[in-house]
Amino acid sequence: MSDLKMGVVFWFTGLPCSGKTTLAKKLEKYFKDKRMPVNVLDGDTLRKSSSQDLGFSKKDRDENIRRATHLAKDLSRKGTNIIASFVSPYNEMRLYARENCQNFVEIYVKCSIEKCIERDVKGLYKKALRGEIKDFTGIQDPYEEPLNPELTLETDKHPSEFLIKKIINFIEK
Ligand code: ADX
Repeated sequence: MSDLKMGVVFWFTGLPCSGKTTLAKKLEKYFKDKRMPVNVLDGDTLRKSSSQDLGFSKKDRDENIRRATHLAKDLSRKGTNIIASFVSPYNEMRLYARENCQNFVEIYVKCSIEKCIERDVKGLYKKALRGEIKDFTGIQDPYEEPLNPELTLETDKHPSEFLIKKIINFIEK
């Protein structure tokens, strides 16, 4: 976090249903309570707007993350903190995001695939397991674990109230 005039990009990565959105919302509330500028970018929202044309092939996922990176970069340059929440399954594209965003904090939202399947908030794992979705992350498509994240938060081991404190401690230290 070298330039304090710029916003920080908090990049949440993890399997579908690992708990990215829950933690992202709590972090958003932290900034709002402090009246600090914050913007949330997430896969579900972006895929209804600027990434509407993209699917889930590797090429399309890479393009999705490329677009998200540039949004995060441009907004954070104006002084807004960014909470980016994307499956972002490939190390190469997470590195791309890191290299493009000046103040970058990678947060690995870690959760066993068994627990994610159990949660299955949108019923998509069920569809993937039935073969109705062919490229679902964690079932047919890979998820490459982050190699050197600033934070690893294990959502199948700790409640979100505890994990958000870990993020806040990191910010305030
Ligand atoms: S990413 O791979 O390009 O980073 P992104 O975070 O934008 O993915 O979108 C993931 C969301 O899209 C998931 O939370 C899920 O709701 C939905 N989704 C639909 N199809 C898939 C799929 N094949 N793989 C992963 N997520 C999918």
